[in-house]
This record gives sequence, C-alpha cells and structure tokens, in this order.
Amino acid sequence: MSARFIVLPTPAAVAEAAADRIVASARNAIRRRGRFVIALSGGSAPRLVYPLLAAPPRRDAIDWSRVEFFWGDERAVAPDDPESNYGLARRLLLDHLPGIREASVHRMPADDPDHAAAAGRYENELRRIFALPPGGRRRPRIDLIWLGMGPDGHTASLFPGSRVLFERARWVALATAPKTSPVAARMTFTLPLINAARTALFVVAGADKAAAMRSIQARSPALPAARVRAASTLWLLDAAAAGAASPP
Ligand code: 6PG
Repeated sequence: MSARFIVLPTPAAVAEAAADRIVASARNAIRRRGRFVIALSGGSAPRLVYPLLAAPPRRDAIDWSRVEFFWGDERAVAPDDPESNYGLARRLLLDHLPGIREASVHRMPADDPDHAAAAGRYENELRRIFALPPGGRRRPRIDLIWLGMGPDGHTASLFPGSRVLFERARWVALATAPKTSPVAARMTFTLPLINAARTALFVVAGADKAAAMRSIQARSPALPAARVRAASTLWLLDAAAAGAASPP
C-alpha cells in the first residue's frame, strides 16, 4: 500500500495526532487480537508525544496490561543514560501507565558488549512473543512501528550508505550512526522487520527535514526512510517539514 501523508500546522499538532493514532491503533488491536505490539521510536518527537499518552484522557483509553513494548532502535548506552531511547520512554511514559506489565517491556540491549549475541536475543524475544518457530521464514507482524526521520533521511538507526540497509534475513542488527550523532554505536530493526509491520507511523517535524521530505514525496528510493513500505505507512508532518511556510 502506498504511503499516506498528513500535514499539520505545528509540532504540537503532529504530537497530538500521533498520540491519537497510537491510541486508536492500540484499541483496535486489543479489540481484534487481545493485545497491541508497538515499537517505540527514539529522537526528540517522543518527548512531545509521550506526555500526551501518559496523561488523561489517552492514558485511560488503553488497557496497558495488553501492550507489548519494543524499540525500533537504541543507542549503545546504559538504560539510565540521557541518550537512551528506553530511558526516555521509561521516564516520560512507562512509569506513568497503570497496569503495565514489566515482562511486556522489551528493552533493546544495545549496551550489551556482545552486540551480535544481544541482537540475536532480541530477535528471539520477538520470536517468542509472536510464537514463531526458530528458523522459520515468517516475520513478526508488529502492530505499529513508530519511526522518526533525520535530516539525512535515516530512520530507526538505518543511515544512508550503511550496509544494514541491505540486510535481508536478520530482523535486528548493529548499526553505526554518523560522527555527528551523540552515540555512534546502535542497534536497529532492519527493513525486513519494519516492512512486515501492520503500520509504520512516521512522526516528523522541523524545517531541517524538508529536503529529505521532498525526496521521499517524490518517491525517490534513495533515502532509508523511503524504503519503509509496511502494510500501511502513514507520515504525520508539520508544515515546516512539509516545506510549507510555517503558519503566521
Ligand atoms: C534515534 C532515532 C532516530 C530519530 C531520528 C529523528 O535513536 O535517534 O530512532 O531515528 O527518530 O533521528 O530524530 P528527531 O525526531 O530528533 O529529529
């Protein structure tokens, strides 16, 4: 299915729309399948979205005991490091949710020095939660993978020119961010796993994303984010990222 784009006036409006989409997706999944499996994002967008999910009315609209939490990527830092995507979610979201089950919080172990084994363990966690046989060809069908996009068109920790972009078998792999990134060593979902999802939800804001967005909307396959084609791919953009003039 081709990607859909919704442009909203401000980053706050994008965050509200993202929180509402997550609530609707969670309620639908729980109603249909008894649970909701989400992969959370990193970057700055979660700082705006998490507080909306962690407060009424959205907080009380989901049975959080039915939610399995994964991460689409993580930096190779301790959980309490300010750069940790898990740590941000823990502080701004998970610690505020009633009924959450700690066994359903699947932190991505990017800080494990044995990176390869840790990536394999995370794949096995996905295999267990989706009851998939070892070595089988079926991939986990995550209900909603929440993604951001960097100014260079990266998403999760899939950066332009990286070999992991061409990974066809593994679901979780090691990655290296450019030197400009606060933490170079990363762990990330690969495209085969992301594209097996029911929904990929991009939450993107800021004029620094406008150039990459023009390429994405021109359907240029060059950028990593352009290669995300889940069953349903929805982009929530603010006016600046969409290249429109910011509202007066
Ligand atoms: C990370 C993220 C990364 C992020 C983009 C956008 O761990 O850094 O997963 O892919 O989503 O870099 O980040 P901003 O929303 O901060 O621009």
